[in-house]
Order: sequence, then C-alpha cells, then structure tokens
Amino acid sequence: MPDPTLLTGRVLRTLASPFDTPPEEALRIETDWGLIVERGQISAIGPAADLRRDWPGTTEIVYGSDLICPGFVDAHVHYPQTAIIASWGKRLIDWLNSYTFPEEMRFADPAYAAEVAARYLDLTAAHGTTTVCSFCTIHPASVDALMAEAQRRGQRIVAGKTCMDRNAPDGLQDTAQSGYDDSKALLETWHGVDRLSYAITPRFSPTSTPDQMAAMGALWAEHPDCLMQTHLSEQTDEIAWVRSLYPQARDYLDTYERHGLLGPNGLYGHAIHLEQRERDRLRATGAALVHCPTSNTFIGSGLFDMAGLMAEGQRIGLATDTGGGSSFSMLRTMAAAYEIGQLRGTPLHAAQLIWLATAGSAGALRMGDRIGSLTQGAEADLVVLDLASTAAIAQRVARAEDAWEELFATIMMGDDRAVRATWISGRVV
Ligand code: GUN
Ligand code: ZN
Repeated sequence: MPDPTLLTGRVLRTLASPFDTPPEEALRIETDWGLIVERGQISAIGPAADLRRDWPGTTEIVYGSDLICPGFVDAHVHYPQTAIIASWGKRLIDWLNSYTFPEEMRFADPAYAAEVAARYLDLTAAHGTTTVCSFCTIHPASVDALMAEAQRRGQRIVAGKTCMDRNAPDGLQDTAQSGYDDSKALLETWHGVDRLSYAITPRFSPTSTPDQMAAMGALWAEHPDCLMQTHLSEQTDEIAWVRSLYPQARDYLDTYERHGLLGPNGLYGHAIHLEQRERDRLRATGAALVHCPTSNTFIGSGLFDMAGLMAEGQRIGLATDTGGGSSFSMLRTMAAAYEIGQLRGTPLHAAQLIWLATAGSAGALRMGDRIGSLTQGAEADLVVLDLASTAAIAQRVARAEDAWEELFATIMMGDDRAVRATWISGRVV
C-alpha cells in the first residue's frame, strides 16, 4: 500500500450523537468525498476534489458509490465461543453448561487457543469489524493467543482473562488469588502495548465468590485506566440466582458495586432487566451498557430498552456477543437492534444503528478519540460497504430515495458480501 493513499467514494461522517441530534444532521453521507490515509492514520478528510488538489500525485483508490465507514467496533464478544456459535435450544445457564464451558475447557491447549484466535480475527475482519472487546477463558494462554494475533495484525483490541472460582466445572475455575495474580500479570504484559488493551474480566456474579469479586475490584482500583467487563441482568432466572447467591445485595448491580466493580470504565453486557436504582447508578457512574441483540433473542433473554436508556443519558455500545449471539456480523447485529426497537415501538434510524456499531461502541470502550469516526488524526480502521451487494439488496436500492434508505437495506439484509474492503491501521486486510 503506497503511503500516503487517497481513498475516494461516499464517506460516512460522524458529527454528533444521533440520539441527541436529529440523525441525518448528526451523521452525513457525503458523495465524492475522500480520506488521506498516512502512517496508519487519517491525515485529512474532505471533498475528493480538494484532497486531489492538496495531495497531488497521491495514489488514489476509487471506491465510487461504495460507502467508506469507520470500521465496526464490537463491544462484547467471547472469541473462545467461535466454534459453538448457533448451538440449539438452551437458555442462558443451560447454554453455558451444555455448550460454552465444555468448549472453553479446550483452551487449556495453547495451540487450540491460537488457532481459534486467528480464525476469529479472520472472520470478524471479513465482516468489517476492526476492534472487538473480548472475554477469553480462565487460561492465561487464551489471552496471550488473542493479544499476540491482534498485535501481529496491527489491530486495536481489548481482551481479558475470564475469572471464575465457582459454579463452573472443575478444570474451568481459578481462585480469588490466582484470578488476581494471573490477571495482573497479563495486564502488565499486554496493557498499552501497541494497540492492545487489557480488560479486567470477572465473568458474572454467579461464577465468582465474593472474595474473587473483591480481588477483581482491588485490581481495578490499582489500574483504574483499564476497562472492566462483565455481564448484568441478562435473564430473569439468572437474576433470581444472583439474589440467592448474594442475599445482602440490593440488586444485581450491587453485587458488583459493593466489591468495587462499578466505575466509569465498566462495561456491562446485556443489561436488559434493570431496576430503577440500577439505571440511576449506572448513569451517575458513567458506566457503559452493551446491547447484544442477536444474543438476547437467540438465548431468549429479553428486549433491551434502547430508547428509554438513551433518553436518560446512558452510554451504550453494540455487540454481537459471539457465540451467544448468532452472528459475527455487525450489520446483522444492527438489523437485530432495529427489530428489537420495533418490538418496543421505537424504531431506530439507520444513522443511529451505524453510530451504535461505530462511534457508540468506541465511546463505550473509551476509545472514541481514536476509532469509531472518520476524523483527522483518527486511526485508519475502515470498512468499505457495497450498498448493492446482492440482487435482493440492489433491487431495493433501485427504489431508494436517498442514501440513508440505501444504507438501511444493507443494514437489514447485508452480510460479509457487502464488505468491499476492511482496512486496519491503514492497510487492507
Ligand atoms: N453470562 C455469563 N457468561 C456468559 C456468556 O458466555 N454468554 C452470555 N451471553 N452470557 C453470559
Ligand atoms: Zn457475554
């Protein structure tokens, strides 16, 4: 790839949140625009004619009517569940015990972890995803595998060792002390190296003793710049179980809060069945909620209250939750978010959907200054979308009255065939 490179086509600009500003003012689809990509970053963005004038002689890659977007950011995934995606018929706790835990046991083998890490990053790149925030397994080598593979690809990633010291099979448990020690060692090895970030990762309250929760809270207090990721209020049976395991806690969120696991850099996956106190505390803290729509329908969890939570000022990202989620595609995930909005009587605009998959998730990861929007100085992680990638989409686009209608057809019906190119750190992958 020559450096610098000029990319021209249609360009998605992100000017504001489409949940605070009218969506078509917050995001713009500009025709005959472009970007200058230089040393892995965006050096300039503007009308193609201006860029050709100001950067004479620069090699131009012409994407024409394709839409150049920020690379998709998937704010909650489990890369070790890649091979068990689309496993039939169970709800959360049975699904974990039947499918997830046996597969996660296999990551005791570092070679298997390395194989799945590479496969997972290939699959996500093919779907236009350039950053993920992933749970690993209890095995430190499962973190090393994903971090090393992302580093090799120059990819921005967040990952952490999943800690569990109860209610999981023998062979898939650590202890409060070893969970702390291993997490700390991994954090010291990987956090802030190249584009890698470590997330402190207690799986969820049922699989950690209060001692382990406290140890995780202590580690986070020592490294408050790290993200902390976990699960919150996904299914009603789970919530009842949490109540029985933590009888003193006021609610599910309090099981984290009382152990130092509620903070502005916290990421709480699912967050479907929240009580008012939990919503108030999450908002006051500035913690991020992560909507996992294909997972929430696939495992039968419930309907996330996007409109209500956004209206009260929560920070929200979007995620596949692979492999509880049924897709690697953030397009499919946006479609599921739209459908859940419809079931709640609050349809999301295409600009809101694509914002959630880019700037929204980047903001949830506290990385909105580096990824998630195409702005000067941002990292050159891009997805280029063909908005007429299949016959079904193309015939619908022929009727579209504007570019948002075109994009919406790809959001609803598109898959990896819509991904013309994925760029990571200024290179096509
Ligand atoms: N809650 C605890 N662990 C998991 C997991 O792996 N997937 C989902 N969807 N929910 C969880
Ligand atoms: Zn999850």
